[in-house]
Amino acid sequence: MNTQQKESCPKYFEFFNSVKIISGYKALGNISSELDLLGAKRPIIITDKGVSKAGLIDHVVDSFGGTPVTIGALYDDTPIDSSNVAVNEIAGIYRQQECDSIIAVGGGSVIDTAKGVNIVISEETDDLMKFTGNNRLSKPMKPFIVIPTTAGTGSEVTMAAVIANPAQNVKMQFTSPLILPKVAVLDPVMTMSMPAKITAATAMDALTHAVEAYIGPQKNPVSDAFAFSAIELIKDNIISATKNGGDKDVRLAMANASLLAGVSFSNSMVGIVHALAHATGGLCHVPHGVANAILLPHGLEFYIRKSPETAGRIGKLLRFFIAPEDYAKVPIHERTKSTITAIRDINSNLNQLCGLPLTLTQAGVTKDKLESIAKAALNDGAIAFCPVEVSYEEALEVLQAAY
Ligand SMILES: NC(=O)c1ccc[n+]([C@@H]2O[C@H](COP(=O)([O-])OP(=O)(O)OC[C@H]3O[C@@H](n4cnc5c(N)ncnc54)[C@H](O)[C@@H]3O)[C@@H](O)[C@H]2O)c1
Ligand SMILES: [Fe+2]
Repeated sequence: MNTQQKESCPKYFEFFNSVKIISGYKALGNISSELDLLGAKRPIIITDKGVSKAGLIDHVVDSFGGTPVTIGALYDDTPIDSSNVAVNEIAGIYRQQECDSIIAVGGGSVIDTAKGVNIVISEETDDLMKFTGNNRLSKPMKPFIVIPTTAGTGSEVTMAAVIANPAQNVKMQFTSPLILPKVAVLDPVMTMSMPAKITAATAMDALTHAVEAYIGPQKNPVSDAFAFSAIELIKDNIISATKNGGDKDVRLAMANASLLAGVSFSNSMVGIVHALAHATGGLCHVPHGVANAILLPHGLEFYIRKSPETAGRIGKLLRFFIAPEDYAKVPIHERTKSTITAIRDINSNLNQLCGLPLTLTQAGVTKDKLESIAKAALNDGAIAFCPVEVSYEEALEVLQAAY
């Protein structure tokens, strides 16, 4: 009998997220009181040139008017995908200016840089590299507030930081519950200036987080709840956010979707799509969301070939992409493929709206790079959290299909 796969509950799981979430119109107005609650009044603000040129730092600075907060330093030179060199430089400024807290204002590149700075300062080290990997941190971190300006990485609520090491052309990963910021502030004014292509790419990163979190081996009912809410919000708002970035309600919905997906995958982790996307970003500098958007349908097709259980889960996600009455009409054995078609349709729509690349070729990856990407992906932390084992040949096949 062809029945829909039942949800099961793991015999044991852990779930953790300690970040205070402040979300909504005028949420920025709370930053100074949050600093006060954390016992801080001299933050360093970390951002990048794109964010500062969009005038977003002014919103944050204005929110400190008439409060005891003094900005200790402002660093706006964070590179895309961050870098261990920038982290060490910013940590030097933090110490020199006697700051007592960190505010990250930006996308994943800025937030992860700020996480790296917090590691260097709090662990009283000069070398971030000593702390790569899982659970290498031991000291309590400095007060840390994050104001995301993209809606994609969810880094404001994740236990992970991904920081590029330009000397070695790789992205290094750091994971520890201690990395978590204390407060995430989501205010729609901070994402409204995001250009359409960055909106689309980062939103596809969030969708990939939610989908991979739901099919990974560490999934559990709590992480599923966050993943489902995220997928629903993304499906309903991703096209309008790209088309009409000035719509505050849509921007707020996407900011929350990204956060929800972040909470989910920070607990249940991500899989082959992210392993390949990290490697593609590290070696070919394809933006993280673009790489995920291209690779998501192909990664899911790989899982379908390898694991009927994972295929069943992918099929169940169809209910978030089409109307309930249509969902009931799709035969169970066709739901898996229909989910992937629905994701491809979103990608095509985004491609037409803003030129989001649909293939690795369109993203500027050359064929001679595929083998090194496949090799690098097998060393990525996310590969251990795929629902099935992945060989070098299989990773290469997925890349060739996406090429
Ligand atoms: N730590 C995690 O949990 C996690 C998860 C996913 C991705 N990441 C990492 O995050 C990084 C990608 O972050 P991202 O996708 O948010 O992009 P990003 O931070 O690299 O920003 C992309 C560009 O958008 C600009 N920008 C950002 N917000 C803007 C705004 N509101 N208006 C105008 N311009 C704006 C930036 O200046 C930058 O030029 C990658 O390094 C990736 O590996 C981390
Ligand atoms: Fe991601």
